[in-house]
Amino acid sequence: MTETTDEQNTKTAPAESRAAADGPLLKVRGLVRHFPITKGLLKRQVGAVQAVDGIDFEVYPGETLGVVGESGCGKSTMGRLITRLDEPTGGTIEFDGRDITHLSTGGMRPMRRDVQMIFQDPYGSLNPRHTIGGIVGTPFRLQGVEPEGGVKKEVQRLLELVGLSPEHYNRYPHEFSGGQRQRIGIARALALKPKLVVADEPVSALDVSIQAQVVNLMDDLQEELGLTYVIIAHDLSVIRHVSDRIAVMYLGKIVELADRDSLYKAPMHPYTKALLSAVPVPDPKRRTERDRILLKGDVPSPINPPSGCRFRTRCWKATEVCTTTEPPLVALRTGHQVACHHPENAPDQAPEDAPK
Ligand SMILES: Nc1ncnc2c1ncn2[C@@H]1O[C@H](COP(=O)(O)OP(=O)(O)OP(=O)(O)O)[C@@H](O)[C@H]1O
Ligand code: SF4
Ligand SMILES: [Mg+2]
Repeated sequence: MTETTDEQNTKTAPAESRAAADGPLLKVRGLVRHFPITKGLLKRQVGAVQAVDGIDFEVYPGETLGVVGESGCGKSTMGRLITRLDEPTGGTIEFDGRDITHLSTGGMRPMRRDVQMIFQDPYGSLNPRHTIGGIVGTPFRLQGVEPEGGVKKEVQRLLELVGLSPEHYNRYPHEFSGGQRQRIGIARALALKPKLVVADEPVSALDVSIQAQVVNLMDDLQEELGLTYVIIAHDLSVIRHVSDRIAVMYLGKIVELADRDSLYKAPMHPYTKALLSAVPVPDPKRRTERDRILLKGDVPSPINPPSGCRFRTRCWKATEVCTTTEPPLVALRTGHQVACHHPENAPDQAPEDAPK
């Protein structure tokens, strides 16, 4: 990121005003993905990794939804589910008004044009034996699409669009830097003019100086092409400048979902507050406002998550009710949902058991 000032807005039209006009592009309800753990020759199921465990959210046309949370909380699994690279165990996924939850590969084929994914690893996600032209042109071949003027011309246009030279057409991935490779990955994802792009940690493998360039490119492309983004990241500093709304995940659940400004100014979930406290504040005078909260303990295993609120083993506000009752994700302010019995910056939801 180039700028780190607190209140600077890089986004203009708030997601909500757009949301009011259009229905959601993506609507997810009760989404679940459990990976079975099996034992013995008979592959008897002895448990499950509850990677994604009942999440609800929408993504509106033209907006960017940022998804954050620590390693292992289920972000990539969620990304693979909504792009239907993986099959959900439960819940529903609606894209553009159509239920795509259990579409077969064949049934998904027409949708593949509309939903694309950008991956974290710009090295591993490009086939080293293929030329850049071949890589960026793959979606046309897979979909049997013949762009106007031919594939080569269109690929060269795409390379220019992402800030590369059309001359790079016959070169190979190893000839490019990490940032350039990610541009190639972006060109490939945009080839078929998708409606939704899911980017899983698109810049976290890149040098910090390059990260801003790639994020800015994605931002420009969104405006130019009217794209809708879901951008996954493990920390809040990358997400902050690009997101209209942000979903915070913890152990397979969404614990807070809010407009970007609302989330940064007045986080309600203790976990979000802790994550935010780790984001560097440029002005040292403001340091005191946001003293670093060090969370105790490790993230519990998603095989056997804590009862009640999953964050309770690390939460400094946890009380009895947090052990017995799972807090539902509810809107405590317009556009600001949180799953917590004793939220910050909002009335206590379980006053009879409030923290002392
Ligand atoms: N194919 C799989 N089989 C079994 N377990 C899996 C599989 N894929 C993911 N998991 C587990 O599901 C949980 C969620 O993983 P996921 O990759 O979605 O997390 P993440 O939030 O993307 O983490 P990171 O920030 O490290 O990328 C983890 O415990 C992981 O080990
Ligand atoms: S529900 Fe309880 S344990 Fe969970 S985050 Fe809120 S206060 Fe902490
Ligand atoms: Mg991941």
